[in-house]
Order: sequence, then structure tokens, then C-alpha cells
Amino acid sequence: MKKILDLMEGQLRAAFSACGYDETFAKVVLSNRPDLCEYQCNGSMAAAKAYRKKPIDIANGVVEQLGDGQGMFSMVQAVMPGFINLKLSGQFLADYMKGMAAGEKLGLEKPEKPETIIVDYGGANVAKPLHVGHLRAAVIGESIKRLGNFLGHHMIGDVHLGDWGLQMGLIIEELRDRKPELVYFDESYTGEYPEEAPFTIGELEEIYPAASAKSKEDEAFKERAHQATLKLQNGYAPFRAIWNHIIRVSVTDLKKNYSNLNVTFDLWKGESDAEPYIPKLINLLTEKGLAYESQGALVVDVAEETDTKEIPPCLVRKSDGAALYATSDLGTIIQREEDFHPDRYIYVVDKRQDMHFVQVFRVAKKAGIVEQDVPMIFLGFGTMNGKDGKPFKTREGGVMRLERLISDIDEAVYQRIMESERRSMTEEEARAASTIIGLAALKYGDLSNQASKDYIFDVERFSSFEGNTGPYILYTIVRIKSILNKYREDGGQVDETAETKVILPPAGETEKALMLLLTRYSEVLENSFAETAPHKICQYVFELANAFNSFYHETKILSEGDEARKDSYIGLITLARRVLEACIDVLGFEAPDRM
Ligand code: ARG
Repeated sequence: MKKILDLMEGQLRAAFSACGYDETFAKVVLSNRPDLCEYQCNGSMAAAKAYRKKPIDIANGVVEQLGDGQGMFSMVQAVMPGFINLKLSGQFLADYMKGMAAGEKLGLEKPEKPETIIVDYGGANVAKPLHVGHLRAAVIGESIKRLGNFLGHHMIGDVHLGDWGLQMGLIIEELRDRKPELVYFDESYTGEYPEEAPFTIGELEEIYPAASAKSKEDEAFKERAHQATLKLQNGYAPFRAIWNHIIRVSVTDLKKNYSNLNVTFDLWKGESDAEPYIPKLINLLTEKGLAYESQGALVVDVAEETDTKEIPPCLVRKSDGAALYATSDLGTIIQREEDFHPDRYIYVVDKRQDMHFVQVFRVAKKAGIVEQDVPMIFLGFGTMNGKDGKPFKTREGGVMRLERLISDIDEAVYQRIMESERRSMTEEEARAASTIIGLAALKYGDLSNQASKDYIFDVERFSSFEGNTGPYILYTIVRIKSILNKYREDGGQVDETAETKVILPPAGETEKALMLLLTRYSEVLENSFAETAPHKICQYVFELANAFNSFYHETKILSEGDEARKDSYIGLITLARRVLEACIDVLGFEAPDRM
């Protein structure tokens, strides 16, 4: 189904062209004066310059030519100095609603050229607990992946674990200090290594911080950890075995955590998987004359003349031969090119890593690893802060773990449900509902902010059932569900598609406003994808929920005496529900049946 803006523009193009003007002036935009019109075309102003005429004369001519746009418009008006103000006709809107309801994916069109897109998000570090910093990557990345898939692209989400750095050596050496009797530390041991890991996830999570703290005070320990890391990277079998244990224990736990967030990955690759591609990378960079030695390290210049700030050379190998963060990211890109040859890359990572990605992307392009015209997008997100404006901490001042954050918000939602006067749920039902609603509160609280901005995590506000919050959106959906249920109980039939149900032209202003918003669905989804901006979906969903609620408060839906009108209402709110649900599914959460 064509997007509403394109349909309108089609009419205006024809009119501009019939008047002898270039069609490109026929652009239609949302009105910035909703009191006067719904849409507008400002092209007469620019056309006036090109054709040396008065804008209003051009506008008048076009308006006359346009007529009612073959029934599309209920109002077409030229106003000073040359605006063309537009209102859509009720019949056109009603037909558009029916088209959406009957269409697959609510009328969304398939992309002209479906792309294969890598979304690198998550970025959890093995053996370290997931903390709130990883929450944003997971939540934002998941929604971008879902959105792309929903639009018809082939999205490949990769968790890209941090599994190859110094933390591995730290854990190995800490383990040696704690359990020197383990076979992994017996140099003369030649047998098989045990299946069972020599630690639980609980121990592992405690081992890493302890080792990290020790390395800050104990130089010798730090050096041992460094050597152990190099040994591991060079394939030393006993350490490889420990490493495998660490990965397995950690990934099991990570999967559980991500699944609580409704987040899944197509690939569970990590930095370690880039290892086999590094020799190839180094060869390529040296052969092309891009990499050179600087103070023993291997570097690639990436500065460009148009840079407004200094972009330092990209370090691809340390003087001791060790690989760096950039090395593994570039190796990973070679791997992704070989495996998928993506049309686009999207990295969802903390914005403080901006410089790293500028360097990596430039090297990838300069070396021809990635074709020039393939977009490499860095979606850098801001920090989640506490109410004091500082990075989020526990009440005791420690690093906030993700599990704790989730249980806090679930609890807040649970309290709200229990306090509600209209509560109709048992405690058990309320618990179950609060997990669903809590997730929406958390995700919407994050996604409704532009990703690059820092935001304040506010349990009270996020879990509120009123205002621009996840629970408010869910509440609206639940409200529609309950109207539809009552209608069914009274013997009515609800069709998911409007084919058999008539949708009439709107009878009132709030009904028309709701329809107008519903028509924008495809445009909003496509835009937020093009701009990698899920917050635009949140904005839309919020406006839509508001529009529905205004309509609801003004309309006696179920007690409407005119059966055809009542059926039309049911068709319309069924569509509203489907649009809202499609949007929140893309955002990565769902609505409960009751709340
Ligand atoms: N593990 C990294 C961190 O915690 C994030 C990884 C981001 N992705 C990437 N391809 N570098 O900071």
C-alpha cells in the first residue's frame, strides 16, 4: 500500500506539472498549523523564484488544477503568501483504514531492495556480570534489529562478546592462586581436561572483580595475567580449556539474562572469533602500504583533510605483537564480509567509543575490506544516569546489576497494580503482569529518548501508568482489548481484518484525528529505520495512544445505537490496537491481557 504522503504528493505533482511547473516542487509535509490544515505544500514559494511569479499565483493555479484530488481532499486552499493547505476527506481516510486492515503487515510495503544488515549490539563481556551499561546496547539494538526484519530486511544480530582480552588472563591467574591443585596448572599433565567447569557462575562473577582489584595493587600478578593472556591467545591448550569453561558458563548465564529482556541474537560471536583473520588483516594493510611501524607498533593513518578534530592513527598491533580492540574489530569485519557480505553495518555501542569506530570504519574503507558505498553506522548511545545525574549506582554505591534493576522496576509496577482501586487481579496475576509491564517500562523509558542522549533512570516515572511511559501505552492497548472483549461478550464479532467490516468516514474530530495518525504508520516505521532512531516510534505510539484515548473519552463506543456506526468504531479500534501492537513488538515488548 502506498504511503499517505506519496499518494498526496502524486496528486500535487500532477497538478504542478499540468500548470507547467516542475514536479519536484510538489512536496507535501505534515502541517505545522494543525488548527488550519492537516498537511501542506510549500513548494509554490520555491517555484516562484524559479518561474519569476508571485507564490500565491502559483498556489492558486495549482489549487484550481488539483480540485479535490480525485476525492482525496476535503479542503484544498491557497493562502498567503503561497501555502497550499490540505485536509484529507473522510471517505478517503475510511478507505485507507480498510486497506490497512486488510493488507499484510497493515499495508507496509516491501523494501525496493531488501538489505542484509549486521547489527552489532549487546557487547557483553564474558565473566563480568551484565550491568546497566549493557542494557542500552541490548534494548536499542534489539529494536533496530526487529524493525529492520519487520520492514523486510535481513537483519543479523551479533552479540559480539568481549571474550579475548586481559580479563581472561586475570581470571586464569586468580584461579591458579585459589586452586593451584587444578590439572590446568600442572605442566606435566598430559591427560584430557574435565568436562565440568572448575567454578560456578557465582564464583566466576566474584573471581573477576577480585582479580581486577588485585592487579591494580600487585604488579607481579598483573604481569602474570598479561603473560597468561598471551599464552591463551597463542593457543596454549590448558588455558584454552579454562577459557572454554569460562565461555560456556558465562554464555549460559548471559542467554538467560538477555532472554529476560526479550533479546535474542542470531550470532554468538566474540572478539576471539576474529583471531584467525588477523594475519590476513595485517598482510592486507601492509601490502597496500597503509600500515607502518611507529614506535614499534603497527599503525594506519586515518586523518582526512576535512576533519574538524584530530583523528589519531589507528593502532592495529602493539609493539609486543598483541592484538588490540581495533584489530579484533577489523578482523571481525573481514569475517562478516566473507560470511555475509552485508549491505550495511550498524554498531550500537556506548558513544564514548566514537573515536574507535571512526578509526575502524576508515581503515575498513581505505583497505577496501568494505566497499565505499556500504554504510557503516555508529549508533552511539548516552549514559543511563541516576537521579543525581551521575552514572547509575545501587543505593550502596556499587555497580548496578541488570537483574537487580529489572526486579526493582517489576516491584514498582507490582505496587502500583496492588494500590489501584480498580484492581481485579490476584497477587499471583499481578506478579505475572508486572513482569510484562516492568519490561515495557524499562525499555520504553530507554527507547523514548534519542539514543545519543544521556537519560535519567527514574523508576517512579517509568512505571507510572500515566504520561509518556511504557505502562501508559500498554494500558491503552489493554483498554482496547477490554472493549473488544465486551463487544464479543455481547454477541458482536471482531474481525482482525476490516474486509467484512465497514469503516465509515469519521463522524467527529477525535475520530478523524485517530485515523490521520493511523495513516502515518508506514511512514513512521520507515523513517525511524532510515534514521536508526527508535525514539521516533515511541513518539508516534504516544501520540497514537493519546489520540485513541481522546476518541474513547468522547465516544460511547459500545452503547452506540446505530449498528453500522458501532461496527465502524469496532473496526477502527481493532486497527488501532493492531498498529499499537505492531509498534511495541518492534520496540521489543508486549501488552498483557489485563492490568
Ligand atoms: N565489549 C565492549 C564493551 O563492553 C563492547 C563491544 C562493542 N562492539 C564492538 N564491535 N566493538 O565495551
